Amino acid sequence: MKKTIIITGASSGIGYALADILIKTEEYKVYNISRTDCSVEGVINKRCDVTRSAKFTKTLKDIIAKEGSIYAGIYSAGYSIAAPIELTHEEKLRYLFDVNYFGAVNFCRTLIPSMREYKNGRLILVGSMVSQLPVPFLSGYCSSKAAIGALAQGLSQELEPFGIKCTCVMPGGTATAFTARRDKINCHGTKYNDAYCKMLARLGVTEAKGMDAKNVAEIISRTLAKKAPPLFLPAGLTNTLTSVAAKIVPQELVSMFVDSVFVT
Ligand SMILES: NC(=O)c1ccc[n+]([C@@H]2O[C@H](COP(=O)([O-])OP(=O)(O)OC[C@H]3O[C@@H](n4cnc5c(N)ncnc54)[C@H](OP(=O)(O)O)[C@@H]3O)[C@@H](O)[C@H]2O)c1
Repeated sequence: MKKTIIITGASSGIGYALADILIKTEEYKVYNISRTDCSVEGVINKRCDVTRSAKFTKTLKDIIAKEGSIYAGIYSAGYSIAAPIELTHEEKLRYLFDVNYFGAVNFCRTLIPSMREYKNGRLILVGSMVSQLPVPFLSGYCSSKAAIGALAQGLSQELEPFGIKCTCVMPGGTATAFTARRDKINCHGTKYNDAYCKMLARLGVTEAKGMDAKNVAEIISRTLAKKAPPLFLPAGLTNTLTSVAAKIVPQELVSMFVDSVFVT
C-alpha cells in the first residue's frame, strides 16, 4: 500500500520538484495544498490558502479522514518580502508570518494527532540558510525562517516519544519563481535606496545561479527514506559547510561576510 504524503506549495518550485520525484517512485500517494494546482500527473490537489487557518485545518482533516494514516507532511509553502524594516508595513510582516510560520504551526498541529496514533510520521519544514545568515532588507523573511528552525527543534523534542521525526531543510539560493514573486517596495528618495537596489540585484543573481529545485527536492526525498533523519539539513555540500562555518565564526564576521556578498 502506498504511503500518503502531504506537501504544501507543490504548485511550483521545490514543492513541485518534490511531488514529481515522489510520485515517480510509486511508493507514495501525494497530496498538494496550494492556491493553484500542481500539474504533476497523479498528484491530488486541494486548493487552499494556508493563511485561511480554518479552511486549511479542515482540508488537512479531510485528507487524514480519507487516508487514515499520513506518513509525512512537507511544508514548502513560502512568501518573501524584501524591504528595509523601517519601511515595511506591519500587515505585510504579519502576512509573512501567517504564510511562513503560523501556516506551518497549523500544519503540524493538525497532522500530529494521527501521526501519534500510528507512532510514526515525518514532519519536514522548509526553512532557509538565511536563518543562520540573515541578509539586510530581508530581516522579516529571515526572522520567519529562524522561527521555523526553532519550531522544528522544539517539535522534534516534543514528538520524539511518539516516534514522529521532524526535520528543518535549509536551502540556500535556489532557482525558482520565488525570486520574481518576492514582494518589494519602492525605496526611491530614501536613504536606503542604493544599498536596497544593490542587495535586490545580487540576491536575484545568487538565486538564479543557485541550486536547481530538483536537487533540493532530491535531498528532501532521500531524507524521507532515512530511519534517523537529521534535525537540521542544509541543502547540499556548500550550504552544509557554510552552516558549520556560521556556527563557529563570530557573528560579526558572519554579518561582514553577508554584507560583502549582498551590499558592499
Ligand atoms: N528559492 C529560494 O532561493 C529559497 C531559498 C531558501 C528557502 N526557500 C523556501 O523554499 C520554499 C519553497 O519556495 P520555492 O523556491 O519553491 O518558491 P515558489 O516556486 O515560489 O513556490 C512557493 C510555493 O508556496 C505556495 N504558496 C505561497 N503562498 C501560499 C499561500 N498563502 N497558501 C498556499 N500556498 C502558498 C505557492 O503556491 P500558490 O501560489 O499556488 O499558492 C508555491 O507552490 C519556501 O518556503 C521558501 O521560503 C526558497
